[in-house]
Parts: sequence; C-alpha cells; structure tokens
Amino acid sequence: MARIPLEDNFNDVINKAQRGLQITDADLATRAEVSAEDLAAVKSGKPLDAVLRRVARHLRLSPDALEALAHKRWYPVLPDFPKGFAMFNTVHGDMTVNSYLVWDPRAKQAAAFDTGADSRAMLDLVAAEGLTLRYIFITHTHEDHIADLARLAGETKAEVWASELEPVDYPGAKTFKENAHFHVGSLAVKTLFTFGHSPGMTTFFVTGLSWPLAMVGDSIFASSMGGSATHFADQYRNNKDKIFTLPRDTVLACGHGPLTTLAQEKQTNPFFAR
Ligand SMILES: [Fe+2]
Repeated sequence: MARIPLEDNFNDVINKAQRGLQITDADLATRAEVSAEDLAAVKSGKPLDAVLRRVARHLRLSPDALEALAHKRWYPVLPDFPKGFAMFNTVHGDMTVNSYLVWDPRAKQAAAFDTGADSRAMLDLVAAEGLTLRYIFITHTHEDHIADLARLAGETKAEVWASELEPVDYPGAKTFKENAHFHVGSLAVKTLFTFGHSPGMTTFFVTGLSWPLAMVGDSIFASSMGGSATHFADQYRNNKDKIFTLPRDTVLACGHGPLTTLAQEKQTNPFFAR
C-alpha cells in the first residue's frame, strides 16, 4: 500500500486545540506573547519555530512534538502483522478513509471494522482467505466510515454492531454497551466508549494477534486527535483515560492516516506527548 499521509499538519493540530479550548486568536497572541501576524502565519502553515513553541505551551501541546510535526521529522514506523490483519484505505470525496479486517487464520472467522467508501477489496480478501465474516463493527456513523455498509453486510450477512450511544441505521443492526466482549475465533474484542468527535465513538480493543490492537476510529490519529469544537474535552479525556492506558505496544488503527503505536504516540503526538 502506498504511504498514507498523516491526517493533520501541525497547523491543523493548533487549530483543533484552539477551537477545542475556545481561545480566540487575539487571546492566544496575547497569552503566548506573539504578534497577530506571526500567529496568522503559523496558523496558515508556516513553521516558525519560536512562535509555534510559544503557542504550543498555551494550547497544552508538546512544543517538541509540534515542532517535529511541523518539520515532518516524524512518520510512524509501521508494525508488521504477519497474518490476520488487513487495512483498507479508500477514497471518499476529497479525503481517504480507513477500514480494517481481522481474522483468526485457523478458525477462518473474521470481523470488519467500518466499511470505508468501498468494501470490494475487503470482500475479495474475505473470499481469497476463505473466511466467514461474523461481525461488522462500526466505530461511528459518520458517512465516510459506513458508506459501503449495504454492500458489505448484504453480501456477507454479517451481524452489524454499533454503540448504543450511536446506533447505525441499518435493518437488524444491534447495539452494544461499553465493555462488551465478542469472540472471533481465538480473537477477543472489547468495546471502549471513546466519545467526543461523535456521541458514540467506540474503540475496539482486539487481542489474539501479533500485537494488541485498538481500532480507534476518529478518536485519535497518528500525531493528532479527532476534532470536535463542542466535545473536545470529552474526546481528550477519553483518549487519555481509555486509549493511553492500553499496553504500550498496542497498535492504533485509525479512521484516517497511517497506523501507529501507543509507544510512538506517547513520544510524538503533540496532544499527549510530555
Ligand atoms: Fe472520519
């Protein structure tokens, strides 16, 4: 697969943090002691180190991580999954969206996480590996993540599951509570409510593969997090309490952008690195 760009640039991170914390440009410039012109330049993508480091401190961002992102010094080292895991990156409008398939190679049981814009490659893999798709788990119901649900569910007859806080509109779809457990052959799936970006945003924690795996939807991205002008504090707290407390070697499978790991995000995500 071609290298997937990071979901957010450093200035997107600044804008998200600022919107989330509801600090105006004028306020931020005053607090960070930078000129309005310099702040505007940074916010439009010009990597002025002294300015962005000052601004970072007032937005609770790590100055080092933000500077590294601004100079593109970092891209996640991708974990190696020998078997039982596949990522699909499909085009939806002017962006791309990820969906995932995990399976137990011996039991030939599989689960999908979101559908992406187009699930044909996933369906091809299910057929090529001789798998039975048991479940389609929905991280959240924003259109890009469930765009191909009718095809995927229709062709496989898999059960469709989403959070009780954000039910998916599909005939026969079921809802789960937090800390629900599912089994897919020898794999285990546990639901964590990591809402904020959307009311029922769910992280699915999957064990039984080479690495612990968190299907985080748009809760968090490599070097950024899901945006929400109204529920930023919820998203931030859920990420911190429920995702950043998972094992360090957990692979984060995000709804947009590349795969990453918790250990890397602890070092490089401006919102969470310290
Ligand atoms: Fe999304």
